[in-house]
Amino acid sequence: MPAYPVKVQPPTEDKRWGLVMATMKRHGYQSNAMIETLHTVQESFGFLDDDSLRFVSKALNVPLSKVYGVATFYHFFTLKPQGKHTCVICMGTACYVKGAGELMETIAKKYNVHPGETTDDGNLSLVTARCIGACGLAPAGVFDGEVNGKLTAADTLTKLTKWE
Ligand code: FES
Repeated sequence: MPAYPVKVQPPTEDKRWGLVMATMKRHGYQSNAMIETLHTVQESFGFLDDDSLRFVSKALNVPLSKVYGVATFYHFFTLKPQGKHTCVICMGTACYVKGAGELMETIAKKYNVHPGETTDDGNLSLVTARCIGACGLAPAGVFDGEVNGKLTAADTLTKLTKWE
């Protein structure tokens, strides 16, 4: 018998996942354990990345877009790297074919920032995701906790300009 339900196997052998698993187990792998689980990931690893968000989504059966929403809404959570604001652009297949690449280029050109980077002034972190579970709204992005779909380059710039 595996120690955990099959779908909740930790992503790596890193012992710190044991702490995360303990938090989820204490809550019976219920979806309402999401925030506490993310806290444990952050305390254990120092930040939340795409793999850990995916893992929490799967283990607690919460849509990935919701996990991304929570992770970017609360300031006590840190996506790597950390800027004052976080813009996640989904580069999954559905979003890519609907123009996510163009969104990314537009942001890179205007703010001189690339995926995984923060602008020099520390204002904007640009993050990519492999799918945030909102494919019907492709291309989708998350702006400080707010999931937005059917984005155009103009919409994206409008949102980011508000953070300047
Ligand atoms: S591919 Fe972007 S939300 Fe699924």
